[in-house]
Amino acid sequence: MNKPGFSHEKIETSNFLMIVLILLVLLAGGLIEIVPLFFQTSTTQATPGVQPYTALQLAGRDVYVREGCYNCHSQMIRPFRAETLRYGHYSVAGESVYDHPFQWGSKRTGPDLARVGARYSDDWHRIHLNNPRDVVPESNMPAYPWLLAKQVDAQALPAHMTALRRVGVPYSDAHIAAAPQDVQDKTEMDALIAYLQVLGTALK
Ligand code: HEC
Repeated sequence: MNKPGFSHEKIETSNFLMIVLILLVLLAGGLIEIVPLFFQTSTTQATPGVQPYTALQLAGRDVYVREGCYNCHSQMIRPFRAETLRYGHYSVAGESVYDHPFQWGSKRTGPDLARVGARYSDDWHRIHLNNPRDVVPESNMPAYPWLLAKQVDAQALPAHMTALRRVGVPYSDAHIAAAPQDVQDKTEMDALIAYLQVLGTALK
């Protein structure tokens, strides 16, 4: 019994029409939800106090990504009471504008690290990264002893910083030229700790 005019049955019995219409709905929804974020100050401008990573911190961030720390650690505190009680102020988009790519994630085998900066001493991190069991006996985090022995790859930094500048990180020529000097004689452990110690410290 077909009613005259438009019938929903037409859509539901045609795979092709159904797919096209679903895509159109998703497209419209996506545009409305996502595109405005490209133009909002709160998502595109750095939160006051957020600075581009120093050469050493940037080298540490590269170690963090290379070693796959993100497989067990998120850097994204959600705006829920249980989270803010444990980790501090929830993460805001303006804290990540210089992160390419960002490290938000959602996998939490270990705790969130978005505000781990300044929570422990450098020595604590050194011992912990060298062998987590030395400070947290029940820890199942892997040990990273080789970071103590490896020097930071200083020569790779200027090109990396130039690439980041191209996507909007305000590094000056002087910053970039001084980068190899800034990380001279530093180990990957020094760099990783410098990175961890700045995480989430800008937002008061
Ligand atoms: C297999 C999962 C796993 C990986 C990979 C991992 N971690 Fe962890 N991490 C943990 C767990 C579990 C804890 C909690 C126990 C502890 O403190 O050791 C932890 C704790 C930490 C803490 C202390 C956080 C706090 O608030 O107490 C830091 C800092 C940390 N990890 C950094 C790192 C870094 C940097 C890397 C990469 C080099 C890394 N983790 C890789 C599982 C992991």
